[in-house]
This record gives sequence, C-alpha cells and structure tokens, in this order.
Amino acid sequence: MNVLGIETSCDECSAAVVRDGHEILSNVIATQIELHKPYQGVVPELASRLHTEWIAQVVKAAIAQTGLENKDIDAVAVSNRPGLLGSLLVGVNFAKAFATALGVPLIGIDHIRAHLYASQIEQPLEYPYLGVLVSGGHTVICRVDGYDQVQVLGTTIDDAIGEAFDKVAKFYNLGFPGGVVIDRLSKTGDPMAFLFPGPTLDRGEHPYDMSYSGLKTAVINQLDKFRNGDAKATPENIAASFQRAAVGILMKRVKLALADTGLKRVSAGGGVAANSLLRSQLKDLEKGGYTVTFPSLKLCTDNGAMVAGLAWRYLMDGHRDDIHLSATSRVSAFKHTYP
Ligand code: KG4
Ligand code: ZN
Repeated sequence: MNVLGIETSCDECSAAVVRDGHEILSNVIATQIELHKPYQGVVPELASRLHTEWIAQVVKAAIAQTGLENKDIDAVAVSNRPGLLGSLLVGVNFAKAFATALGVPLIGIDHIRAHLYASQIEQPLEYPYLGVLVSGGHTVICRVDGYDQVQVLGTTIDDAIGEAFDKVAKFYNLGFPGGVVIDRLSKTGDPMAFLFPGPTLDRGEHPYDMSYSGLKTAVINQLDKFRNGDAKATPENIAASFQRAAVGILMKRVKLALADTGLKRVSAGGGVAANSLLRSQLKDLEKGGYTVTFPSLKLCTDNGAMVAGLAWRYLMDGHRDDIHLSATSRVSAFKHTYP
C-alpha cells in the first residue's frame, strides 16, 4: 500500500510516499525557515500563505521522486491536529481534494502521535514503551501501549522545550531556529560556565511535569553580561550551560518515569530529539539495560513520512475519514489525558 503523507502543521511543507508503513519512497520537506528568519520565529499568517503556494509542488515532487504515478497512490494521509490552524487547513483541504480526485481513502493523523511513531518506521520497537515527545510546541512524557494508545504522564506546564531553545537563541540573537544553533554552539562551550536552575522535582500530583520558563528567564538574565563582553558569557558557554540544564530537566523526569512504571523501552521523537546531548543521554540509558530508539534526523523534525507511516497502521485497521475531516489547533495533552 502506497500512502501519501502530507504535513503542514507549522512551517515545514512536506509530503512523502511510504510503502507498507516502512519503506520511505520519498520524503520531500520544503522548509520555510529562511522566510521566517527575519522575524526570528514562525509567523502564522506567512506560514499558511506559503503552504498554499507550495503544497501542490511539494506533493507533485514527492510522487515524482518515487517513479510512481498518481494512480499508484492507495491512500492520502494528512496531519490535521494539533498545530497552527491556518497551516493545518491548507494540508487538510489539499488532502481532501486529492483523495477525492484519486478516489482513494483519506485519513487525518494526529501530529503528536506521528512524532511518537516516527522511530517505528525505521526501527520497530515492541510496545509498551516510554514515549518522549520533544518539539517546538510540545514536551510530553508518555506511556505508549500501541500506535494509538498514548497515556500522558507528564508535560510542560509552560514553554515547550524547543520553544525555550528558540527563545533563548532569539534573545541572544544567535539565529533561528534556535535548537540547531544552540546544539552547534554548545559543542565548543563550557556546560558548567553558568549553573542555571536544573531539574528540581515536584513530587506532587504530577511528578513528571516540567517547567522551562524559569530556566529561560535565568538564561535571559545573563544578557547584560553577554552584551558587556563578560569573558565567561560567550555564546558558546551560554548555549552549553542552557542546553545542559534543559536536557537535565527532561532526563530527570524520564528516569523517574522509567523507574516508577517499570518500562524497559524508550523512544523519543520531535524536533528536539535531534539534539546531540539529549540523544547521547538517552542512549546512555542502554547501559542500565533499557532499549532506546529515536528517529534518524530527517524524521525528527516535521515531515510527511511520519504521517504516512502512522496512517498505514490506521488504514490496516480499517480506519477512514471522509470529506468532513476538519483541522483542530489544540488537543488535550496538557490535561493529562489524550483523546
Ligand atoms: O518537531 P518540530 O519540527 O516542530 C514542532 O512540531 O514543533 O520541532 C521544531 C523544534 C524547534 O523548536 C527547533 O529549535 C527544535 O525542534 N530543534 C532542536 C534541534 N533541531 C531542531 N532543538 C535542539 N537541538 C536540535 N538539534
Ligand atoms: Zn512537530
């Protein structure tokens, strides 16, 4: 089954063709990064306008790269929740029209579940496992019992981890998107140069919840030193010290959740799962007998392949959507339930 997956929930305009859930025949990602750069953040209006201009070309390229024709596409899948509403709508409406024109099934896919599923495409992992979804919009630690069975254990109570990377980079004028820049700068910085607030745990009702706004504020509070040319406050040292604390906050919860749940497998996904420090600290869990997987770098950030891969599972189980499929900007992950 050749599934076309469309992803337009934020600033990546992507389409992919995945055969039988595992063979990625194409995965075209047209990134809008350069066009949002002047604003040092994603401008929703601009994002949806660019998706509208690009989507047809991107889908065409994704199919052309496979050597297949439109008639060989067996189903159309699209991220329809959560995300920027205007951006989601472009993908959803295109997918509806395309599926209707081809006369093939249409299915709407949850973007968060798709990120959590991404590593399963390349490196299938037995359920249940601890899912770690870390992106620009979400920071979720969850128990994953099946491709559509996700129980949220902990989430951020304020900024998402990727958002913290992006905001720190923005304040220090390091570049956009912040995650990649901070990851790169950190390699030559001293992670102990600044002891930013780290992973204190609240053993209350939601022990796996985390906060990134305090860390972000602490980092921004060093801005004067940075501007005044303080020898210690170099971009590299700020980046490395922030990254150490940001990853530490998450890893502390991951370890606690593993100990409490007894789960022996861990899988990460989302843009921040591309972070080198996080990847190495997750990989270190293997020394303790855990099995750890994460997607290859191209499948960490937003992409159509993860949508097509997960869609295949749903389609095999008989799920279908129809022309009434709508886009939803938010889901209730923040309330510790997941639809
Ligand atoms: O999954 P994604 O493409 O979009 C969302 O669903 O949010 O994630 C984008 C986020 C951005 O915040 C970006 O700064 C972050 O992922 N990111 C990274 C790295 N690469 C991307 N954060 C830390 N280290 C990286 N290497
Ligand atoms: Zn995403």
